[in-house]
Amino acid sequence: MSSIAQSQGGTLTEINFPTHLNNERLRKWVEEMVALCKPDKVHWCDGTQEEYDQLCAQMVESGTFIKLNEEKRPNSYLCRSDPGDVARVEDRTFICSISKQDAGPTNNWIPPKEMKATLLGLFDGCMKGRIMYIIPFSMGPLGSPIAHIGIEITDSPYVVVNMRIMTRMGSKVLEVLGDGDFVPCMHSVGMPLEPGQKDVAWPCNADHKYIVHFPEERAIWSYGSGYGGNALLGKKCFALRIASSMARDEGWLAEHMLILCVESPQGEKTYVAAAFPSACGKTNFAMLIPPQAFDGWKVTTIGDDIAWIKPGPNGELRAINPEAGFFGVAPGTSYKTNPNAMESLSKNSIFTNVALTPDGDIWWEEMSDEKPAELIDWQGNPWTPDCGKKAAHPNARFTSPASQCPSINPDWENPEGVPISAFIFGGRRATAVPLVYQSANWFFGVYLAATMGSEKTAAAAGSTGNLRRDPFAMLPFCGYHMGDYFNHWLQIGRTVPTPPRIFGVNWFRKDENGKFVWPGFGENMRVLKWIVDRVHGRAAAVESPIGWMPRYQDIDWSGLEDFSFEDFCKVMSVNREDWKDELLSQEEFLEKLYDRLPKEFIFIRELMLSSLWRSPEHWGMVHERYVIHNDEEH
Ligand code: GTP
Ligand code: SPV
Ligand code: MN
Repeated sequence: MSSIAQSQGGTLTEINFPTHLNNERLRKWVEEMVALCKPDKVHWCDGTQEEYDQLCAQMVESGTFIKLNEEKRPNSYLCRSDPGDVARVEDRTFICSISKQDAGPTNNWIPPKEMKATLLGLFDGCMKGRIMYIIPFSMGPLGSPIAHIGIEITDSPYVVVNMRIMTRMGSKVLEVLGDGDFVPCMHSVGMPLEPGQKDVAWPCNADHKYIVHFPEERAIWSYGSGYGGNALLGKKCFALRIASSMARDEGWLAEHMLILCVESPQGEKTYVAAAFPSACGKTNFAMLIPPQAFDGWKVTTIGDDIAWIKPGPNGELRAINPEAGFFGVAPGTSYKTNPNAMESLSKNSIFTNVALTPDGDIWWEEMSDEKPAELIDWQGNPWTPDCGKKAAHPNARFTSPASQCPSINPDWENPEGVPISAFIFGGRRATAVPLVYQSANWFFGVYLAATMGSEKTAAAAGSTGNLRRDPFAMLPFCGYHMGDYFNHWLQIGRTVPTPPRIFGVNWFRKDENGKFVWPGFGENMRVLKWIVDRVHGRAAAVESPIGWMPRYQDIDWSGLEDFSFEDFCKVMSVNREDWKDELLSQEEFLEKLYDRLPKEFIFIRELMLSSLWRSPEHWGMVHERYVIHNDEEH
């Protein structure tokens, strides 16, 4: 059935509605958006391979995509973004709840009416000279009771092909949707074309960027950027910001977490979800390959970035990965550090802002020990190892189907999800925070997660390296007041009969020379095994002021050379003065949320502070000496 939308300027655009579309709200919304944006054409995405191939070919033609060497990187493309559009723009991201209080002090807020007026102005005619694509997508396996449907309208073919990898997308979603509910996701690169005006390879708007969420309405409007989380609206905008607010209302959790399964040599399966801030190791941890000495241990991947977690029928928490692909950090990824990611991106992938090799393949920092003699860098300029510039942008990304991951778990598309036994929280901390520790209980665990700090990375625009509090790795992604979010987590612990155990980790502790002390990556299995054994009541630990910690002999060191007991002390030490400062800095952050902060937090902090002075001065030696110190001091 076809319909003509008439815009105010009198332009007519035909909307070829799909034949069986019986969703009145969708019909009306599309008509309104066509009239507003005034595109040349409307295309309903069917999600087929032919459509994908055609759009890619079209982008090769227009200079947006470079087709990579078919032998080395089958069916894959390189894309270079505008150098001013390379990461999420947190300062241009808004939670426009009706009341400012509900967005809380950690989100940008503008009154929804005012924001709507601004957006209507910006979107008016924004798709002139362009095609409007309508993308029906499901976050989560189609038809799963944990899944939800969104419709993204965009004028970016780059977004369409990325969404086809990242979500379940196309006609089949409309069938499952029927006349049901969906989240409307409006997106434009914000660069209309005048008649005869030539397009650029990466259209975006240098002056106006708005990533806007209306939580009560459950609607998303994104303008001016074509990059990652700003534009692939199923990901951070829907699956985290809008979903977190849905989850609060409905009693579940939408989290910035990977999901993995640890299988023991005996076949025991333990599912774990872990929250690390952006570019802090989720993809790597989710695809971990245990060291050789861990014969028979296996780690499989359910998800690498987002988890939707709902209470299950037997009192457990069940998690799904709402995504279908990986939008992973490229730099640092190699066969040495993450072979599973390298295999995932071996074909059918899109690479954004990486370098191009002379033979039509891709390269980025640390992909190989030896740097190629020459490259074309992420901005399209000639590059040599001594040119003093990075070949790939630090936030360069690969988009790859999750199904191509060798470690993908057979249950990764199970609509019922997997039962979670442990939550792990970890940031990028050069100092203070030990390699691993376990919270005394759920409440201490929520406090641990709420006060997590991390040094800023390139995943968000702006300076990197500065420490900031990033509660639950959700600071840029929580769709409502962070204090309410903490209370929601506490409430989940009260209602779930056996809540998962909670752990803190830090792979990024540095020595006096600024080098990472912990080898990380596959070696993180040693920490993961201790965590799994703790969950099953098998591993020993000692009590410290901040929680339960493994002694040297509680970790399996088999096969690890070059990591001494002294090194262990370095990564495990909890220094009294450091932690006094740490707790002070936590308090400083929490004060901002004072009016909605859980009462429990104040007592937990006090308890930790006082126990620091009732303990040995240094907790680095949490081994036998612990007992002696304890006797001396108490
Ligand atoms: P987002 O996709 O932004 O949410 O990031 P992520 O949390 O999935 O991070 P990812 O696994 O892609 O890792 C980001 C960077 O951290 C990469 O450059 C990795 O090489 C590096 N990294 C990951 N794990 C470790 C580790 O155990 N130790 C060290 N030193 N670096 C790591
Ligand atoms: C992150 O920044 O946490 C990402 C990448 O996973 S983006 O999709 O751009 O948000
Ligand atoms: Mn992420």
